[in-house]
Formats: sequence, structure tokens, C-alpha cells
Amino acid sequence: MTARIGILTISDRASSGEYEDRGGPAIQEYLNEVLTSSWQPVAEVIPDDQDVIEAALIRMCDDEGCCLVITTGGTGPSKRDVTPEATEAVADKLMPGFGELMRQVSLKAVPTAILSRQTAAIRTRALIVNLPGQPKAIRECLDAVFPGIPYCIDLIDGPSLETDEARLKAFRPKK
Ligand code: MTE
Repeated sequence: MTARIGILTISDRASSGEYEDRGGPAIQEYLNEVLTSSWQPVAEVIPDDQDVIEAALIRMCDDEGCCLVITTGGTGPSKRDVTPEATEAVADKLMPGFGELMRQVSLKAVPTAILSRQTAAIRTRALIVNLPGQPKAIRECLDAVFPGIPYCIDLIDGPSLETDEARLKAFRPKK
């Protein structure tokens, strides 16, 4: 079964074409590097508008059948940063451990990690994970939390995601 994974770039400037989206391609590159099981991206670039973000998350989780949606951008304190609010608004369950771990690890790389309100949530049969907008934050954050993602997706009856163990070992409890 081919897993569908949403890659949602949330940025006024990338969505208006003012600059090139570097976050979405960086997420795609990361997933190609760590996943050995079959997957396909469902990618979108949208502005920092809460209604638009919620609609995109709902579409990816409910209509596109994504088991995982990774967002980048809009997690900071500025007025237009509303990605965590949109994620919480569409959530069935919050998964605060993801944000806690990503901030903890990111603080070792940059002191400004404290400014990210990134979170994660379950909606229907999908896990949504917020990443900051900085392209270099993508690898820093995903290396920390990705080991926990395949088992989380097993628990919500999603497809089995397999990783290249030499690059990143997923943890699943022994049966
Ligand atoms: N986390 C990591 N790992 N690396 C980073 O470079 N940038 C920080 C922070 N978290 C950063 C990071 C900065 S500068 C900000 S303002 C916040 O994420 C929010 O970024 P966002 O609004 O683009 O999501």
C-alpha cells in the first residue's frame, strides 16, 4: 500500500511567488532519504491564513487519504503565524510530545527555537506535525521525532512506514 504524505508549506511570501518554496522540497528530500516503503507526496503551498490552512489540512487528511501531513512555517509569534491554531482547530487529539521534543532538540541548534509554537495532532487517520519555516529546521526536527512516527501511524490504522535503519531507526515495541 502506497502511503500518501501531505507536505504543506505555509508562507505568505512563498505562496505569492515572492520567494521560492524551499521547505516543501526539503521535506520531500528528507522523506526520500529515510523511507524505504512506497510513498507519494501531496504537496501544496498556501498563505498564512487560518481558514485556508484548516481547509488544506482537512482536505489532505479526509479527502486525499494522507496518513501523515508535515507542515512548514507559521509557527512563530508574529501576527500572521497561525499554523498551530489551525492544527488544533482540526484536531481530534493533540500530540504535545512532538512539539516538546522538537523544541528541546532545536534549542541545541538555535536559541530562537523557543519562539516556535510547533505542535502535532491526530485528525481522523492522519498525524499532522508542524515544523518551523526555516529549511534547516526541517532536518533538525524530523531527525528527532521521525523515529516515533511509524508506530504512531500503526496505532491510527495507517499504512506501515518502513525506514532505512542505517539512516534512521523507527521504534516499534516488540510484539
Ligand atoms: N528550530 C530549528 N530547529 N531551527 C531553526 O532555525 N528557527 C526558529 C524557531 N525554531 C529554528 C527553529 C525561529 S527563528 C522562529 S521565529 C521559530 O522557529 C518560528 O518559525 P516559523 O514562524 O517560520 O515557523
